[in-house]
Amino acid sequence: MERGEFIQKLGIGMVAVCAGCGIASCSSGSKNSNPAPAQPTPPAAGSGNLFSADLNSELLNTGDSKVINKVILVRLAAGNTSASFTAVQVVCTHQGATIGYSVSQGIFICPLHGSEFSKTGQVVQGPATAPLQQYTVTINNNILTVSA
Ligand code: FES
Repeated sequence: MERGEFIQKLGIGMVAVCAGCGIASCSSGSKNSNPAPAQPTPPAAGSGNLFSADLNSELLNTGDSKVINKVILVRLAAGNTSASFTAVQVVCTHQGATIGYSVSQGIFICPLHGSEFSKTGQVVQGPATAPLQQYTVTINNNILTVSA
């Protein structure tokens, strides 16, 4: 292939690629110019076992927490009974921010707009209006299991 022939073919190829880009840009821009942000979905009721924690080495102190699979597990008090723990969805029901647990206040707080939820996930203060989903905590031989 001659140098001139190569450059000519390359030029045609570049135009074809650019034309394709222009068409893709126009079509994607006209479909939806303001898509809603994707909301992470916590595990639904009936999902079964979600995760486990070994209480011999994890969650040893009040306030310790573990977040897995969009669920936050928190130790509320000493002792290895299910009453010493709570597990709720970690995704705020208002606009999907990640909530955290306040040991001093004994509630879950969303840092984005200040919604507050009880230990069982009920709304204490808005703007959230829907409760957090609470999950079942069971303990057997110091192995804690969170399930839906
Ligand atoms: S996202 Fe949590 S209060 Fe708005």
